[in-house]
Amino acid sequence: MSSALPSSSRPHLLLIYAGHAGGRTHALVEAVKRGVADAGEDVELRALPALAAGIDDLLWASGLLIGTPEHFGYMAGAIKDFFDRTFYPVQGRVDGLPYAIFVSAGNDGSGAVASIERIALGYRWKPCAEALIVKGEPSVADLQRCAELGQTLSAGLALGVL
Ligand SMILES: Cc1cc2nc3c(=O)[nH]c(=O)nc-3n(C[C@H](O)[C@H](O)[C@H](O)COP(=O)(O)O)c2cc1C
Repeated sequence: MSSALPSSSRPHLLLIYAGHAGGRTHALVEAVKRGVADAGEDVELRALPALAAGIDDLLWASGLLIGTPEHFGYMAGAIKDFFDRTFYPVQGRVDGLPYAIFVSAGNDGSGAVASIERIALGYRWKPCAEALIVKGEPSVADLQRCAELGQTLSAGLALGVL
């Protein structure tokens, strides 16, 4: 018999991401997902390309992970599009949502982080982990850091400490 909580009472972790199939950001996404699974917590993960995610997903979430490549010193357009589509419809209904960011960058990444953090302030979200920036090809250690980020969010939501 399964001891899993019903979906309605389980914490919900939404992971939205940009990047292309076979790219570096997707490798980070897979590592984060592995971390969530390995944490073994009773948390429901919904991982979606940002272009496929919307208002209902955001309102469903009790925690949010955002993964993006850095493009022109900014977040990827797909993440910005998600913000453009959801900001006003969810205003006042997602205050305090715990979130964290991970970025794949060529040699910087700070612009992507800063641009997301600025918009997250507008949503009144709460940062719950230091932004993770991976420069260049992800190493085994980088993927491990991503897995730990997934574990941290998952455990924090399950324990109700985020
Ligand atoms: C259009 C474009 C703009 C980019 N701009 C930046 C940038 O401003 N800073 C940076 O560090 N890397 C930049 N890069 C490099 C990517 O962030 C980096 O290669 C990243 O790992 C790509 O992730 P992906 O494989 O998931 O697409 C840019 C890449 C592209 C294609």
